[in-house]
Amino acid sequence: MPESRGLNIGEAKGKLGILLVGLGAVSTTVIAGVEAVRRGLAKPIGSLTQMGTIRLGKRTDGRSPKISEFVPLAGIDDIEFGAWDIFEEDAYEAALHAGVLEKELLNQIKDYLRTIKPMKAVFSQDYVKRLNGTHVKSGANKFELAEALIADIENFKAEHGCDRLVMVWAASTEIFKEIDETAHGSIEAFEAAMKENNEAIAPSMLYAYAALKCGIGFANGAPNLTVDIPALRDLAAKSGSPICGKDFKTGQTLMKTILAPGLKARLLGLEGWYSTNILGNRDGEVLDDPESFRTKEESKLSVLEHILQPEVYPDLYQDFSHVVRINYYPPRGDNKEGWDNIDITGWLGYPMQLKLNFLCRDSILAAPLVLDLALFMDLAQRAGMKGVQEWLSFYFKSPMTAPELYPEHDLFIQLVKLKNTLRHMMGEELITHLGREYYDNE
Ligand SMILES: NC(=O)c1ccc[n+]([C@@H]2O[C@H](COP(=O)([O-])OP(=O)(O)OC[C@H]3O[C@@H](n4cnc5c(N)ncnc54)[C@H](O)[C@@H]3O)[C@@H](O)[C@H]2O)c1
Repeated sequence: MPESRGLNIGEAKGKLGILLVGLGAVSTTVIAGVEAVRRGLAKPIGSLTQMGTIRLGKRTDGRSPKISEFVPLAGIDDIEFGAWDIFEEDAYEAALHAGVLEKELLNQIKDYLRTIKPMKAVFSQDYVKRLNGTHVKSGANKFELAEALIADIENFKAEHGCDRLVMVWAASTEIFKEIDETAHGSIEAFEAAMKENNEAIAPSMLYAYAALKCGIGFANGAPNLTVDIPALRDLAAKSGSPICGKDFKTGQTLMKTILAPGLKARLLGLEGWYSTNILGNRDGEVLDDPESFRTKEESKLSVLEHILQPEVYPDLYQDFSHVVRINYYPPRGDNKEGWDNIDITGWLGYPMQLKLNFLCRDSILAAPLVLDLALFMDLAQRAGMKGVQEWLSFYFKSPMTAPELYPEHDLFIQLVKLKNTLRHMMGEELITHLGREYYDNE
C-alpha cells in the first residue's frame, strides 16, 4: 500500500463492482449515464467525484485540483454494475419503462444495457404494499434469504472479476419501522430474529446484512431504517465496512437545505413552510401508500428543525409550521414538480413570502449521488474508515450519525465536512476560512 501523509489508502486497482438494489428509475439512470459518459456521449453533471475540484493550501497558492486527481478514486472505466429487482426486465427495458432518459440515448448504449440483468430479489409485499413482482427468491426463513444474497455477491465478484464491491439501496421505500431492540439490538439478536422470520427484519436489512457479512460498504438511498440499527452498525465495525444513509437528498429537500441556512444566516424568522409535490413515477406510486409515505415524511420533516434550531432561536423559529405532501399524479412521470410557500419575517416582525416552484427530474438529480457515494464508499473502505461515514451527509436527507449526535443538514456545512475529510485523508491542511495569514504583514 502506498504511504500517504494522511491515511494509509490502498490503491484503486482492478475493477469496482457497484451492486444496486432495485433496477428502477434511479439505478438505470446511473448505469446508462455512466456508460454514456464512458462513450463520450454526455457529461457527468452534478457529480462531485467527476467534476468537482478542491482547494488546497492558501487562496494565493492557486492549487485547486479535480477531486478525482487528488484522492485515489476508482475510474469510471473500471466500474461493473450489478442489480437485483423483483421484475425480470434488463437495464434497457427497465430504463425505457422508467421513462427518464430519451430513447435515442438509450438506443446508442442498448448493447451494454441489455447485458445487465437483475438477480432475483428478496422481497415481501408486507414492506412495500403497492408492488408485486415475481422475480423473487424463496427460502425457509430470512436467514436463508440473506445467505442467498451472500452467494449472489460472491458469484458476481467472481464472474465479473471484481477486485472490490459496494452496495447501494436504490429500491422502493419500505413501510415505516422503528428500532426494535429485541430484534435489532445486537448481531446475535438480529441473526436469531432472521431465523424466526421476525417481522422487524425488513428485506432491505437482509441486503445490508449480506453486504456487511461480505465486508463491503452499504449506502442507503431510501428513508427506510435498514442499516441504521445497532446490530448492523456493530456488524459494519466488526467487518470493517463503511455504511451511510438515509434517503438521497434531491429535489425539494435539497432546495430546503440550500435556502434555510441562508435565511438563518440573515436571522430572518420563519412562520411556516408548506411543501407539496406532484410525482408520477413508480416511486410516487409506492409513496402513495400511507405506510411508505410515513417513512419518507419523517425523513423530509426533520431537516428544518435541525438547521433552524428553534431551541437556540425561539424568537425566530419557535413553533413554525412545516407541512410536506407528496401527491401521486401519473401524467408527470419522473419529472416531479415541487411547490414551496415560505412565510418569513423580517425587521420588527414584518411578514414576507417566498414561493419556489422547482420543475425537477428526480432521477437526474439522484444519479450523480449514487455514483459519488459508490466511489467515496470504496475510497473510505480502502482508507480503513469503517462504520458510519458522517462526512457523506452531503448526499442524504436523514444523515446517519453517532447515536448521541444531531445530524448536520446545512448543505454548505456538509460540503466543508466532506472536503475537509478528503484533505484529512491525504494529509493536507484543513481549511477553516479564518484567513488571518493574508493580513499578518499589514
Ligand atoms: N429519485 C430521487 O430523487 C430519490 C431521492 C431520494 C430517495 N429516493 C429513493 O430511491 C429509491 C429508488 O427510487 P426510484 O425512483 O428509482 O424508484 P423506482 O420505483 O423506479 O425503482 C425502485 C425499484 O426497486 C425495485 N424493488 C422494490 N423492492 C425491492 C427489493 N426488495 N429488492 C430488489 N428490488 C426491489 C422495484 O421493483 C423498482 O424497480 C426509492 O426508495 C426512492 O424513494 C429517490
